[in-house]
Amino acid sequence: MRLDKYLTEMGIGSRSEVKQGIRKGFVKVNGMPAARPELKVTEEDEVTWKGTPVIFVEYEYIMLNKPAGVISATEDARERTVLDLIKNCSRKDLFPVGRLDKDTEGLLLLTNDGDLAHRLLSPKHHVSKIYYAKVDGVMTERDIRLFKEGLKVDDSLTALPANLTILKTDENSSEIQLEIYEGKFHQVKRMVHAVGKEVVYLKRLSMGSLLLDETLEPGAYRPLTSAEVEGLYAE
Ligand code: URA
Repeated sequence: MRLDKYLTEMGIGSRSEVKQGIRKGFVKVNGMPAARPELKVTEEDEVTWKGTPVIFVEYEYIMLNKPAGVISATEDARERTVLDLIKNCSRKDLFPVGRLDKDTEGLLLLTNDGDLAHRLLSPKHHVSKIYYAKVDGVMTERDIRLFKEGLKVDDSLTALPANLTILKTDENSSEIQLEIYEGKFHQVKRMVHAVGKEVVYLKRLSMGSLLLDETLEPGAYRPLTSAEVEGLYAE
């Protein structure tokens, strides 16, 4: 890959800033000054910018415990996005794999690996997603059956069979876990609404084999381990 592309992809600056820096002598390759932006480098080469090593990372995978109040987008003129929370990543082309509503918390994968994102989001693949929800209203055995059979939510959505577990109920509220195999707009909220109750708190716990690391506070994140990445590829 060209030296200027290498440095741009690693977020050193725009293509023209990087080219200027190269010409000014900010860059060394394997200890030698490199003054030509078109010089070819590979991951084996040791590239430095103003003396600091620039390690090439092709794909990056980050697990975020999304807090409420930020939107699942890469940029937005008004709202804070999930990418605004990520401070020290290698890649500048990360995007969220799917969306959680602004008020939903929990597991969100950020990556620049388009193939993996496609596999996880493709409606054909039926990747499992497990949510925890607090519900205004009492969820019942009948709801478990209806969800299991594939509930007609409204004219535009008949949900695939889903696994509802009722964790707790009292006179007028419930805590549930719901496993679904698709990701339609507001899916969990609409399913619960369709049986006459309302989600008041929602958190995603898993996506396929990837489980939310419960040591991450809302807003915190960490890189995936290689076993976690391999697990997702095996979905
Ligand atoms: N279902 C919802 O209703 N909202 C989400 O954010 C995710 C799933």
